[in-house]
Amino acid sequence: SPVLSDPRDGVAILEGNRSVAEQYGIPLAVLLEMTHRCPLQCGYCSNPVEMERAGNELSTEEWKKVLTELAEIGVLQVHFSGGEPTVRKDLVELVQHASDVGLYSNLITSAVLLSKEKLEALADAGLSHIQISFQAADPVLANRIGGFRNGHAKKLEAAGWAREVGLPLTVNAVMHRQNMSQLPEIIDMAVAMDADRIEVANVQYYGWALKNRASLMPSIEQIDEMTRVVEEAQARLKGILAIDFVIPDYYATRPKKCMGGWGRQFFNITPAGKILPCHAAETITDLNFESVRSNHSIAWIWQNSDAFNKYRGTGWMPEPCQSCAFKEQDYGGCRCQAFALTGSAGNTDPACSLSPLHDKIFKIAETEAAEGTNRYIYRNFSGGTLEPEENAHGA
Ligand code: SF4
Ligand code: FES
Repeated sequence: SPVLSDPRDGVAILEGNRSVAEQYGIPLAVLLEMTHRCPLQCGYCSNPVEMERAGNELSTEEWKKVLTELAEIGVLQVHFSGGEPTVRKDLVELVQHASDVGLYSNLITSAVLLSKEKLEALADAGLSHIQISFQAADPVLANRIGGFRNGHAKKLEAAGWAREVGLPLTVNAVMHRQNMSQLPEIIDMAVAMDADRIEVANVQYYGWALKNRASLMPSIEQIDEMTRVVEEAQARLKGILAIDFVIPDYYATRPKKCMGGWGRQFFNITPAGKILPCHAAETITDLNFESVRSNHSIAWIWQNSDAFNKYRGTGWMPEPCQSCAFKEQDYGGCRCQAFALTGSAGNTDPACSLSPLHDKIFKIAETEAAEGTNRYIYRNFSGGTLEPEENAHGA
């Protein structure tokens, strides 16, 4: 494969910004995890269980350099995410820098730390879209799931401000057994707050979510009911609210084409500057990821680093994928899930019914859903086990 280079790699200077993106398939949008710090403690987080401490985070100048470089290699849009990106004091400055170098920016936030002034400043700096997560429709349940006092009310208030300052709004609703029954009300809530879109996304099980699978996994009947609710709402709300729906692939017969295929359409940058093929890739503990702090350019890392090339394309695939007619449709499913459930990211994703492990894993999910535990581990730096009911911070 062609080696992409810039002065740091001692070969040639990148030429023709947009053409580099086209030639080497640099993604048009990149996820930036500004920090792993977050005031919420949702037990379904896909961040790695070993989270990055604040002291390791990229500095303002380092993030600016990253933004400039992304624009130079043809990226068009960045998603400021986390953890919770608004804990970074320099967020407005970084959004402004993104605008200055010609990048569109989206903010993916829990919104509980936002003020109206902060949102206005972000909009003035050129923020073009905001995505706010909600844990449920009912405040008591929502605050219990997020482990944050009064969070739900703050989110509703911030959503109102977002619309006042004219920002397009997407509601992100991560669904699981604890909040599933509230899906109709969550959709109504998104309409009431004048959102443009809602993502109804079932939990994907790696990182913290895998630790908490027993309290989050729905039954197949619950998934069927969710599907019915979503389809009814999609028809009723056409032109009012766009609804995206992601089901948990434990209940599918074919796996998802995760990340659009490893190293094909997506990368993200971690708080400490590592470049990953997937936001959960650090859960694959036997891969090494190159950093923006290394001597390599971002484009070189995308094109040439071992972690990206290890599972790119179809050459790495074992059976049954290697001789399967679907291998270029799903690229063998999800590497993070294969690692989490089989111990090797190089195995077929067990979500696939052709995987020899599929039946066993499907049974675990069914059993866990039937047992009905509500005990889950909040995501925080101590990783302490808490009963959500005992730790309800109030509405
Ligand atoms: Fe996809 Fe592999 Fe399953 Fe075939 S065997 S459907 S390529 S995951
Ligand atoms: Fe990492 Fe699927 S979540 S490859």
